[in-house]
Amino acid sequence: MTDEPEPEAQSPTPHDEAKDMTSQLSGFYRLDLDDRRARVAAIAGLSPTEIDALSADAGLSDQQANRMVENVLGVLGLPLGVCVNLRVNGRDCLVPMATEEPSVVAAVSNMARLTRRSGGLDADADPSIMIGQVQLCAPSDPEGAVAALEAALPELHAVAASVHPRLVARGGGVRGLRVRRVDYDEPGFPAEAMVVVEVLLDCVDAMGANMINTVAEHLAPHVEAITGERVGLRILSNLASHRLARARCRIPAEHLASEGMSGDEVAEGIANAWRFAWADPWRAATHNKGVMNGIDAVVLATGNDWRAVEAGAHAFAARSGRYAPLSIWRRDGRTLVGRIELPLALGTVGGTLRVHPGARLALDMLGVESASDLAAAAAAVGLASNLAAVRALATDGIQRGHMALHARSVALAAGAVGAQVERVAAMIVEAREITVEGARRALTAMDLSARQPADAAE
Ligand code: MEV
Repeated sequence: MTDEPEPEAQSPTPHDEAKDMTSQLSGFYRLDLDDRRARVAAIAGLSPTEIDALSADAGLSDQQANRMVENVLGVLGLPLGVCVNLRVNGRDCLVPMATEEPSVVAAVSNMARLTRRSGGLDADADPSIMIGQVQLCAPSDPEGAVAALEAALPELHAVAASVHPRLVARGGGVRGLRVRRVDYDEPGFPAEAMVVVEVLLDCVDAMGANMINTVAEHLAPHVEAITGERVGLRILSNLASHRLARARCRIPAEHLASEGMSGDEVAEGIANAWRFAWADPWRAATHNKGVMNGIDAVVLATGNDWRAVEAGAHAFAARSGRYAPLSIWRRDGRTLVGRIELPLALGTVGGTLRVHPGARLALDMLGVESASDLAAAAAAVGLASNLAAVRALATDGIQRGHMALHARSVALAAGAVGAQVERVAAMIVEAREITVEGARRALTAMDLSARQPADAAE
């Protein structure tokens, strides 16, 4: 009934042959860039040509970018890293992460290593159900409109189902419709009743924004005809409350022990950080930022819509009427128990993935079978990223690790190249002088000491 392109069926990925791969790659960060690419390609069953799609000039060409959005001038690069060591549902996975923030990939990889000592994380996600809303603006008879629409639900269901006829064969389709009365009653302004028809559509492996918006637009004239009232908005809701992803982990306290602190003390510190976030929205916002550091990086790397994910996550965090943490950390005897739940509308077909070779490659590297698997992996990364933050806050504080990684960018900014970068970074951390000036001095000192034997021989 519509020209709306439906997502193609998912083709088997190179990962289908690499299910028993390992993500446990100790010292991976010490390899140089080419060796890292070669290692990941070998593990994930990707060819050297495929992995080349990750290099800066191959990720997205000007021409490809020019077809994606308007008024294109160029392409903005972001580092694409890989989270190693992660084990989700008993399976190792290499998770692509695109982020500009130093320490996020390292932190998640470290927590992946920590959690794998007790079996890794468990994660799951709902089917890919999107919500579309059709709004009746200020109907003259709201109760009459609700009654008429409820009586016509089978007709509306048939209209919605006719929009993407091939979706059912792929396991998706309309999952229900409901009618709600919504009251605008902002103090100081005239009250207004609204009626909303909501349609639930399982979009299978697509993120589904275009699909659900098309359904909402097709329903609108029918909603007007049934009620005799005027339709206003016809659009999806980013609060994808039927598309939740969850992750969990249990960590024996002794695995958390840190310099000068017992595992139980660290577990208590993490539980305290969670209670603070529960009690205070200012802290909850920062707690959730630590979650989204991990999730956004996966969303971005796999070509998904991070604004949609952010909007859904924060609306979900405020669903009780008070903004709250997306994850929970509690002690259960001598075990730290963590879990997270949030809406994750992610696709593995269609959208950006049609045109972005780097995003397609990232998805192949992860080797997920479905959009729900991708959402489950992203939830696991979100929980690990949050754990890294609250563990650091409960122990050393966040700056020590951050500054150590920041030191590398400072070394680069001061002109260090190759092996100099790590050495200069170590020197300025040691000297507690993580500034470009400090890095220049370190470079000069290195240069002098390298020349010394020759000078002495002269
Ligand atoms: C920094 O990007 C994220 C943190 O602030 C999160 C947190 O405070 O939990 C470290």
